[in-house]
Amino acid sequence: MLRTRITEQYELEAPVVSAGMAFIAMPDLVSAGCNAGGMGVLGAPLMTPDRLQADIREIRAATHHPFGTDIIPRFATAEHIEVCAVEKVAVVVFFWDEPPREWLSRLRDAGCCIWVQVGCVEEGEAALRAGTDALIAQGSEAGGHNRAVAVTLSLLPALVDAARDIPVIAAGGIADGRGLTASLACRGAAAASRGARRSAQDRGALLRSGTPSTDRRAVSATNAARGVGG
Ligand SMILES: Cc1cc2nc3c(=O)[nH]c(=O)nc-3n(C[C@H](O)[C@H](O)[C@H](O)COP(=O)(O)O)c2cc1C
Repeated sequence: MLRTRITEQYELEAPVVSAGMAFIAMPDLVSAGCNAGGMGVLGAPLMTPDRLQADIREIRAATHHPFGTDIIPRFATAEHIEVCAVEKVAVVVFFWDEPPREWLSRLRDAGCCIWVQVGCVEEGEAALRAGTDALIAQGSEAGGHNRAVAVTLSLLPALVDAARDIPVIAAGGIADGRGLTASLACRGAAAASRGARRSAQDRGALLRSGTPSTDRRAVSATNAARGVGG
């Protein structure tokens, strides 16, 4: 069993995160990731607060393990944050925009951990100043929206150096155990975050519950992300 700071802190069996992809990472995929020993993350962007709450409860009914919700601030409101806080979601992942400080305070007060996905060292440093509990280094190979300045295995060590004691999770093009091992070999990387396209293709253990509808969701959401400029 591979042990890292992320597996220790969140009591995971594997240093693997199932990425919080809008339209794809729905409760079935999230709970499958958690029940397989990793951390599932709900793709919450563009959900209403009511839908977010219902999905969080659906995940909780399907797994006893911790999970996350992924928030893109420009699509979210204080109501979304309130739902995550009230439901005491283990991790709230932010991406693309800097989250308002008051959102972070509310989540911290509720006991939620905060992760921020970034594509360059400057964004990572801003997240560290805001007190993030972990960084996700999104390299330019990553699917979905992406504005990374470098490939995963180039960005990752730079962020690990910047983050010092804060764990860094690798994201982008990690499709199997060799990719995971390469990420962990980057002094200090603490886990790998995997997106839908690879995961749905190989139908590995994490996605054993991924049905053909998961594949369809992956393809249509990837196309949507590209169309929107991802
Ligand atoms: C179809 C698709 C949609 C995505 N949507 C989101 C999203 O809503 N929020 C987010 O933080 N990341 C999103 N991502 C990016 C993932 O968080 C992650 O960085 C990426 O999937 C890792 O690279 P990989 O796809 O090569 O494994 C998306 C990725 C894909 C493939």
